[in-house]
Amino acid sequence: MYYPDEIVEEIRMKNDIVDVVSGYVKMQKKGSSYFGLCPFHNEKSPSFSVSPGKQMYYCFGCGAGGNVFTFIMEYENFSFQEAIKFLAQRAGVALPEAEYSEEMRKKDSKRARLLEVNKEAAKYFFYQLRSERGKAGYQYLKGRQLSDETIKKFGLGFANMTSNDLVKYLKGKGYEDKLLQEAGLASFDEKFGMHDKFWNRVMFPIQDINHRVIGFGGRVMGDAKPKYLNSPETMVFDKSRNLYGLNIARTARKNNIILCEGYMDVIAMHQAGFSQAVASLGTAFTEGQASLLKRYAQEVILAYDSDGAGVTAALRAIGILKEAGLTGKVLNLEPYKDPDEFIKNKGAQAFEERLGQAENTFFFELRMLQRDYDLKDPESKTRFYREIAKKLCGFPEEVERENYIQAVADKYQIGFQNLRKLVLSYASQTGLAKPVERPKSGIQKKTSPEENRKKSQRLLLTWLVEEPSLYEKIRKYISPEDFTEDLYKKVAVKLFEGLEKGELNPASIISLFTDEEEQRAVAGVFNTRLMELSTKQEREKAFHDIILSVKRNSYEYFSGQLGSDVNALNQVIAGKKALEELSKTHISLD
Ligand code: UTP
Ligand code: MN
Repeated sequence: MYYPDEIVEEIRMKNDIVDVVSGYVKMQKKGSSYFGLCPFHNEKSPSFSVSPGKQMYYCFGCGAGGNVFTFIMEYENFSFQEAIKFLAQRAGVALPEAEYSEEMRKKDSKRARLLEVNKEAAKYFFYQLRSERGKAGYQYLKGRQLSDETIKKFGLGFANMTSNDLVKYLKGKGYEDKLLQEAGLASFDEKFGMHDKFWNRVMFPIQDINHRVIGFGGRVMGDAKPKYLNSPETMVFDKSRNLYGLNIARTARKNNIILCEGYMDVIAMHQAGFSQAVASLGTAFTEGQASLLKRYAQEVILAYDSDGAGVTAALRAIGILKEAGLTGKVLNLEPYKDPDEFIKNKGAQAFEERLGQAENTFFFELRMLQRDYDLKDPESKTRFYREIAKKLCGFPEEVERENYIQAVADKYQIGFQNLRKLVLSYASQTGLAKPVERPKSGIQKKTSPEENRKKSQRLLLTWLVEEPSLYEKIRKYISPEDFTEDLYKKVAVKLFEGLEKGELNPASIISLFTDEEEQRAVAGVFNTRLMELSTKQEREKAFHDIILSVKRNSYEYFSGQLGSDVNALNQVIAGKKALEELSKTHISLD
């Protein structure tokens, strides 16, 4: 952090969260909180809440949450540093000069250096594209009908013909060979020494959601192979957790996200006004990307290539979207290959119409399935219907299943009752997908031990925030050491420190985390509504289960460390004693 904690805290206290958020969101007071429409996802009824007491916000719809810094970071797309400057100015707090002293430089993590060198490289490529040497690149992009504005917006650039000019440039700026290699910008070999990874290509910088350059894709200007060369994964470039174009799409405020395969597709769609388009990064769509998307939209429209590979990829993506709880639709681009070609030939208006006609993913799956059957042959047709019935068993919720049976029956002209019987007969053989049951303690039985571990630690923190008076009753059994998850341990240290003094200040704890993902996770801890448990006994039982689970896990964890960690033995001995005592003790919630 470049500013001292006290200053950060002063700025936070002088910017009342209700005041600040009111500047962006219309809110109404209900009970002790304010409610309004969430600015981070599309919704019709308000699930976005701001608590003046906690000085935090949380959306029960999309899970966005945090303190006043997080809000400004998310809303304005600012980094933590930028949010501090913005709010300091708003409250009239004078900031000391940000210190980029020698000492800070040293402290600066590898991550920051990688981001810095990527940014320099992007600037260099950008500049080359506008120079005489970059003419071919510029003409190539013009030939693909990109406007100057679009080229600028996406920071497109050019890597020269020469094989080491980027290396020379970056070394001149003081970056060492090792860093250039680690960033995937250069490699070394005996014969040529250090040389550029990209040359004679148009360059697409890949940005994370905060507009930081994390890698590159470079395209040849002709037919050579490979068509695109991409940066390797690095400490700052995780291909499974980023999406091309999301830095812009996240603020598009449309009610869907368009997911496609290519960099050029994203750019063409944005240029045509569809600024909600994103693409995966030369790899298949992942769960991580799905959960990222879930923060910004509830519906994802797939705009994959219309060839065989595109269909296969779309079918895979549908499964992942479903897993993540997102609704999907599939865009038909026929007779064109991809969104870029469609728009080039038919224009934005026609594309908009196709978006309106996008197909329900279930029907898309059936249509693709149907290609393997001959519906004129009764035998084959029957097998097709059986496959449909099997797929219909996959809907866990009865109402939804019945709706689909009805819709499929209509569409394929099968008798509703016949189809329904077929579904039920399959269901009796293989069982229907069951809705997930949630045990009352909030700890799910079916998830992995790893997940359970995290969850019980998180829930314990949540209980303590909700009912600080419990701290007195459990402090002799539980310490921050018992939180084996790094993030939760950090939170526990601060929270326990406060509770020890009789203070509870969740909003200030969040400022200790500068990474957006971490802040979000911490905000989640402080805002999760505990499950509505009706009776006192149920609540006491749930709380008891959670403490026991945290303690048992910590005991097992430290037992596993015996021999390698001197501190472990003490933990194990104390842990065993506490566990025995805890299992006999009744902790009252009065
Ligand atoms: P496509 O081959 O569909 O390319 O690859 P495209 O986006 O339509 O490209 P243009 O229109 O010919 O310029 C889709 C995506 O797959 C990755 C890239 O991310 C590309 O955008 N890809 C493709 C590679 O990483 N390497 C390749 O050699 C080809
Ligand atoms: Mn294309």
